[in-house]
Amino acid sequence: MKFNQLLIVFVVQVFLRTTYGEPINKKFPENFLFGTATASYQVEGAWITDGKGENIWDHFTHIHSDLIANGDNGDIACDSYNKYQEDVAMLKDLGVNFYRFSLSWSRILPSGFTNQVNQPGVDYYKNLIAALKENGIEPYVTLYHWDLPEPLQELGGWPNPDLADYFAEYARLAFTLFGDDVKNWMTFNEAKQTCQLGYGYGVYAPGVASDGIGDYLCAHTVLRAHAKAYHIYDEEFRATQNGRVSMVVDTDWFEPDSDSEEDIEAAERRIQFNFGWYANAIYHPDGNYPQVMIDRIADRSQQEGFPRSRLPEFTPEEVEYIKGTYDFFALNTYTTSLVKWSDDYPIGTPSWDADGSVTVYQDSSWNSSASGWLKVVPWGTRKLLNWIDQTYDHPEIVITENGYSDHGELDDQDRINYYSKYLSNILQAILEDGVNVTGYTAWSLMDNFEWLSGYTEKFGLYQVDFTDPNRTRTIKSSAKFYKNVIATKCLVDTCEE
Ligand code: NOJ
Repeated sequence: MKFNQLLIVFVVQVFLRTTYGEPINKKFPENFLFGTATASYQVEGAWITDGKGENIWDHFTHIHSDLIANGDNGDIACDSYNKYQEDVAMLKDLGVNFYRFSLSWSRILPSGFTNQVNQPGVDYYKNLIAALKENGIEPYVTLYHWDLPEPLQELGGWPNPDLADYFAEYARLAFTLFGDDVKNWMTFNEAKQTCQLGYGYGVYAPGVASDGIGDYLCAHTVLRAHAKAYHIYDEEFRATQNGRVSMVVDTDWFEPDSDSEEDIEAAERRIQFNFGWYANAIYHPDGNYPQVMIDRIADRSQQEGFPRSRLPEFTPEEVEYIKGTYDFFALNTYTTSLVKWSDDYPIGTPSWDADGSVTVYQDSSWNSSASGWLKVVPWGTRKLLNWIDQTYDHPEIVITENGYSDHGELDDQDRINYYSKYLSNILQAILEDGVNVTGYTAWSLMDNFEWLSGYTEKFGLYQVDFTDPNRTRTIKSSAKFYKNVIATKCLVDTCEE
């Protein structure tokens, strides 16, 4: 080939790689860790077995089956309460370094309070943790993945500030019971979904619609609850248990619709409202809510006739108390959205969207998944990682969830495509941009209960047959792909040494 032709081939290759995200042929760092994740309500089943109490998702799916696809619920789910040994065998076969799962608060404390501990529930988690450790798999444990004990909801749920103390007491008990074996704790999973969908839009359990008020109250309690749990760990457990505690915050990447100053400002505002709302108080060197939220919500509240801001205020002591309560940055991310400037939403009914006042959409040409919100945009993740690196002062980042939904194909090539391209962009962020990402978690180990979508959207590396009382698990092509990535630390056939 002539030089000119070679040059064209080279340019086309670079174009293809950057446009379509062909995986790069470099290896993940030697100490990089791979895992998979699940959550209690989505996999355990056994909703009322062996003394477990009712939680808000039990309650919600039973009284609002009309709101869940096919009227389904998590009563049996993957039956992991009875089949955890099979789960551990799958994890072992994948060769993961860690397994992220969550504790069901009401399985351990049926009423939510620490006065009555349910021993079979404790034993279940002790057995699961022991089985993981026997197989060389580190347990990464989330204390709260959306399943609040129903009696605490009867007291108002997360908008009730006293829940911070009840959560802290539950956290102390969990550290006491399991902390000798668990070295990585996450207090809350995606608190934004708990607060916005549960107490703002009111579409998830417990179904409280209080947009622009209840969601802010909920977040305020959750942030205080997280900080209390972190300080309890610091003061009472860290010296002997020597583990790490963080809170999982989730976001899309928000790409400005154009390079106009207005769209750039709108995209930044959106990520602050979406992500900074939770991340800033913990992970930002200045702490507190993002200034843009404090200012805009105060201003709009006043215009709406409220005597004070709908966004609760932290005292200076609380800002200090919450700031820095993390040992690594725990991030869930799946997709990207585009953001356009929008003239302020008119003053009227309060809402979180009106407070942020931007237009958000996704490009219809982006590859889709079985979930309406999940488009395949690998480059967005690299941009997000760089933004976090710059905004929060170069933290160590563990990606605690990332994954793709389909309709359950065993030969799930679209999932393989998603993982290989997202992982490639993450690797570029590490190797080319210097972002300190040290771990990656595939959501999910197996198909499970996907909230309002029931069992219609499948995220698993393993298929679960929900029509079979045995809940038979079957390996998918993506599990074989992921297994190879973990074994070789490489996304293509051969990587540069
Ligand atoms: C985030 C949540 O943590 C998890 O529960 C959910 O199933 C996945 N994303 C996929 O939607």
